[in-house]
Amino acid sequence: MTKIEYLDLGIQPIANEYVTPGQDKAELFFHLAMGVDDETGMSSLMHVVDSRTVYTDTYAYHSSGSKTMRDHFAAAAKELQDKWNPKTVLEIGSNDGVFLKNFTKSHSIHSIVGVEPCANFAKITEKMDICTFNYFWNEETAVYATDYTGDKFDLVYSANCICHIPDLVETFDAVKSILSESGVFVFEDPTLLDMFKNGSYDQVYVEHVHMFTVCALSRILNKCGLEIIDIEHLDVHGGSNRITVGHLGEHAVNLEAVAGAKTNEIVAGLDLATETFQAKALINANANENAYYAFGRRVMDSRDNLVIKLLELRGDGKRVISYGATAKSTTVFNYCNIGPDMIESIIDNTPSKQGKLSPGMGIPIIAPGDGIKSYIDVAFLGAWNFEKEICKKEAKFLDRGGSFITHVPYVREIAINVKC
Ligand code: TYD
Repeated sequence: MTKIEYLDLGIQPIANEYVTPGQDKAELFFHLAMGVDDETGMSSLMHVVDSRTVYTDTYAYHSSGSKTMRDHFAAAAKELQDKWNPKTVLEIGSNDGVFLKNFTKSHSIHSIVGVEPCANFAKITEKMDICTFNYFWNEETAVYATDYTGDKFDLVYSANCICHIPDLVETFDAVKSILSESGVFVFEDPTLLDMFKNGSYDQVYVEHVHMFTVCALSRILNKCGLEIIDIEHLDVHGGSNRITVGHLGEHAVNLEAVAGAKTNEIVAGLDLATETFQAKALINANANENAYYAFGRRVMDSRDNLVIKLLELRGDGKRVISYGATAKSTTVFNYCNIGPDMIESIIDNTPSKQGKLSPGMGIPIIAPGDGIKSYIDVAFLGAWNFEKEICKKEAKFLDRGGSFITHVPYVREIAINVKC
């Protein structure tokens, strides 16, 4: 098993670790780089930071932070309940309960369980009367969960969390051990294919240990006695897959969806673990034609174009802020070396991020107040995945001639005369 590096984003801080001005604690940095495994075809970080350093009891990311995601999780809960009629539900990475709060105990649902390693969030769901195990997901936690219900689970759900867990085999083994015979495991995470299509290299940060392809996931799941039975592509988080998994051979497989998703990845040159697309291609003379190397080059161009754009704006005397203190923007700012000299502040509606400084580059984070201030000319979309929601919310800013810039899918400006 060899991991071959294809993307180097330099030395980076811990993305969601916001800095208190004047704090004694030194920031932690690590080398952020992605590689692809030549056996499974899985894209993962070359250097993984211990999960206990990342998911602490001051972890900042609230899943309820946007209307888009609140609506998304309410719809997901309803859809899954209608489709699978689960008696027992468990969520891995239950965060602030944005998904589980849509389930109510009744004669048809007798157990609703959350698993959440960050104590600040586990406390929130406990207060919502949801049994929450304040642990990382692994085989031991799986035993606690089944001991609590006295039963296996019909629905195991996880959103934007499985790609955070370093050991996928242990993760899937633990899921298999708690899944009822006809139970389903549904998880959604951003995809490598969307990242390649969008040039959204900022999907890579300390938490995104893996960027999933269906081809690679299938191989690992099969080894664990599980299989993908359905896939739905979602627009959220810059393009995600909702993957439904069951015990091997237990459910009918939606072949059109599953084989279709694999074909799209193979056609895009992403499946390096097949005989046709040997990982060795990365290091041989044809490297220039390789999709992974092409992506690496695109990322460098994106960085250069963004820095040039910001320098031009500053040269013209424009005042520039960023919108959304995201983990993604931590990657962009540290990779492109963008600090308070180029972006004066970041606005974000998460109270625990306000008054802090962005990791690594020290840009002050402030509350949005009534919206972008009248003296600001341009806002970088740190939360580009919420472009529609933000443009709608900040219509006044656009009306008075303000504009947004983003690097996705290429460095561009979004202004009133440009549809957003
Ligand atoms: P998200 O894009 O989910 O980011 P990541 O996973 O990269 O950290 O985070 C969105 C952030 O943007 C979150 O901190 C909330 C903030 N936000 C606002 O401040 N205002 C808004 O209108 C929206 C949609 C998000």
